[in-house]
This record gives sequence, structure tokens and C-alpha cells, in this order.
Amino acid sequence: MYSHPIHDFSYRNEELYCEGIKVSAIAKKVGTPVYIYSYQTLVDHFRKIKEAFRAVNPIICFAMKANSNLAILKALANEGAGFDIVSGGELKKARLVGADMKKIAFASVGKTDGEIADAIKAGILLFNVESKPELENINRIAGKMKKTVQVALRVNPDIDAPTHDKINTGSLKKKFGIDLKTARKIFLEQKIYKNLHINGVHIHIGSQITKAEPFLTAIKKALAFVDGLEKNGIKVDYFDIGGGLGIVYNDETPQTAREFADKVLPLLKGRTFRLLMEPGRFIVGNAGIFITRKLYLKDNGVKKFMIVDAGMNDLVRPSMYGAYHEIIPVKPSGIASVMCDVVGPICESGDVFAHDRRVMNVKDGDFLALLSAGAYGYVMSSNYNVRPRAAEVMVKGRQWAVVQERENFKDLIKGASIPEFISH
Ligand code: LLP
Repeated sequence: MYSHPIHDFSYRNEELYCEGIKVSAIAKKVGTPVYIYSYQTLVDHFRKIKEAFRAVNPIICFAMKANSNLAILKALANEGAGFDIVSGGELKKARLVGADMKKIAFASVGKTDGEIADAIKAGILLFNVESKPELENINRIAGKMKKTVQVALRVNPDIDAPTHDKINTGSLKKKFGIDLKTARKIFLEQKIYKNLHINGVHIHIGSQITKAEPFLTAIKKALAFVDGLEKNGIKVDYFDIGGGLGIVYNDETPQTAREFADKVLPLLKGRTFRLLMEPGRFIVGNAGIFITRKLYLKDNGVKKFMIVDAGMNDLVRPSMYGAYHEIIPVKPSGIASVMCDVVGPICESGDVFAHDRRVMNVKDGDFLALLSAGAYGYVMSSNYNVRPRAAEVMVKGRQWAVVQERENFKDLIKGASIPEFISH
């Protein structure tokens, strides 16, 4: 029986509920595939971090890349969240939901001139800068705009955190951050950047890291770096420890926010800087599920395949990272399980949600839920195979609403044209 530790999704009377609403009712009304978010789980997770770190009153910048649905962002902004953004589009979304610009950190290894200018104009808190050429460029643009902007250097602590290689960012084999030697040099010669106030240190070592040790090693390294700067009379006002806290997908036993805080806070004793954090997955990952419909069960004599109406274009994590998402029936009663691959309709062998997994063999046309789909789900979806992106729904108590309509064919051909010279 289903025992996944996400509080606001649970079975009652042989029905999967999201808070006070039957998941099947939403799926019938809105169709599938559909992402369903629990407002309560979302804000609870934000509050868990806020509470755990209350002693230092951090700026918690939700990493919008994990889920940039406007309703999610609004709910978090209402809770006092800031945002970690990585593009001009994310900046615009932050403005749309009325986010406090003084709680916005802008990361990304490749910020364009337009994005930099827009962010300066918006008055964001700081830029997390990832290279010297980028620093020079921000200085130049700020100069043209007659502004002084705050900068944190994203330092690369050269740490190999145990997670999937594609989401491991803290080593010098990766494109992220500035090596400590160069970063120190920049701080020491910061007077040459007339329009920058370089007063922050940022680290982010990777994502879905379930243990404290890699974070602690990286934080200690970054703090030693800060000490070195302070010895040279340089004051650090912001210390950003990034995101990366792991969650439960399967049998992980990740640290809680409290356990994490209990280990991190002692390291920060006596520091005067403001702490920033950039959690994404921890806040939204288990606040969302993804509903698909079983189409067929196919048996080729060697293996069985459960074919569903969602594909890797809708939720790419299993094919991209071999990620595990638990799959459960929306109506669990009176069904047997079957050993199979759960696959989508896309013309690629990698279009698989589960390999050789025992799942409940619901009737053709019935719904299945993929759990822990709130982070890096919808945001990474695409139109591959000319498939419209799924709908998104938010539930709060007994209320629910479509917060992102399903795309239609018109959306898919928007801006497309057939030129005269090939049109006959
Ligand atoms: N800060 C920075 C600078 C980041 O690059 C990221 C994530 C975060 C914060 C938030 O990390 P989180 O707390 O969510 O772990 N698509 C992958 C994850 C990519 C993470 C990218 N950066 C996945 O589905 O697992």
C-alpha cells in the first residue's frame, strides 16, 4: 500500500486525494496528463526552512527554475519568499507576482546584456556572478546606466557532491562558479570595478543531495575564503549557500530542514553577513504529483509494457537522469499488480517512466499518479512529437483551479509560417 511521506496527498475511501479534492475528479474535468499541486504542502515546506533557520533570518530565495508556475510563485511570495532567478523570463515572472526585488538573486553562467540591464533596472538585490568577463560586462552596463550594483561571486569550492553527474555543479570540472584563487584576486582588486559593490560569496554544489556533509564541507571552505578576505579588510555582507537539499523519491533518507540547520547554524556563529539560501526542489518537489492515464498493456512475449498518455516530453526526469518517481493508482481497489516497463507514446526507447517495476495494473483508461513531480517537472516539458504541454492545477483545501491551461494545437504552431518560395 502507498506509504510515500507526502502529507497532503493521501488515500481516503479507496480514492487518492489532494488535500480535500479527489484527484480523479480533477483528472476527469481537466483531462490528462496533468500536474496537481498542493498549496499546503508547498507552504509547509517553505515554512520548515524558514522556521529551522529563524535564528539568522535568512533571505530564502526560491529557485524558480524548479517550478515557475505563477500560482506557485505567488503563494511563496505571499509567505515572504525571495527568488533565485536565472533568466530575463524568470525576472519578469517575479515581477508579475509582485515579488520583493530586494530579495532577488540572479545567477546563471550566461547572462546577456539585455538580461543584466533589465535586472539592474528592476533593482534586484544582487547578481551571483560566475566569471570575470561577466563581471566586467555587468560593471560596463551598470556604468552606462549610472548605477552601482551589488555582486556576490559564485565561488567553485571544487567539491564532488554525491549526486547525478548532470546535476553536480561544485567541482572545477564543471562550468559553474569562479575558482577560489581568481575570486580572491577579484575581491582584492575590486576598486577597478567602479560600478560594482562586490560584497557577497555564493556557492551551489549541486542538486538532490541528501546528506549534510557535502554542504558542510563546501560551507566551511567558503567561510575560510571569507575569513581570508576579512583579514584583508574586505567586508562580506551576503553569504549565499545555494540550494540542493534532497527529497524523498523512493527510499532516500534525506536530512530534514531542522537537521540541516542544526549543522549549519553553529558554523555561522558570530558572522555579521546576511544568509541567503536558494532551495527549489525541497520546497516544491513533494508538493506536486503528475497524473497520466493508462492506455494499453502490451505483452511482446519477453516483456510487458504499460503504455500511458504522458511522455518524456511531459516529465523528462526518468529518461534524462534515470530518476525514480513512485507510480500509484488513483483508485487502488480491486486491482492486481504487474511487472512491466511504464512507457509513454514517444518514438524513443528512452521514453520510460519506470523500468521493470511492479505497478498496479489499473484498467485501460484509468489514472495513475507519478509522485514527487512538483520540481523540474512541468518546467522541463517540451512539445516534442508535437505534443501540447500538460495542464497544471493547484488545490487549496476544498478549492482548486487550473493554474496553467493545457496547450492546444494553435499554441503549438504559433509564429510558424510556410514561406512563399516553398508554398506551391
Ligand atoms: N541555486 C542554483 C544556482 C541552482 O543552479 C539550482 C539548481 C538551485 C539553486 C536549486 O537547486 P535545488 O534546491 O532545486 O536542488 N533538473 C534537475 C535539477 C537541476 C538543478 C539545477 N540547479 C532535476 O530534475 O533533478
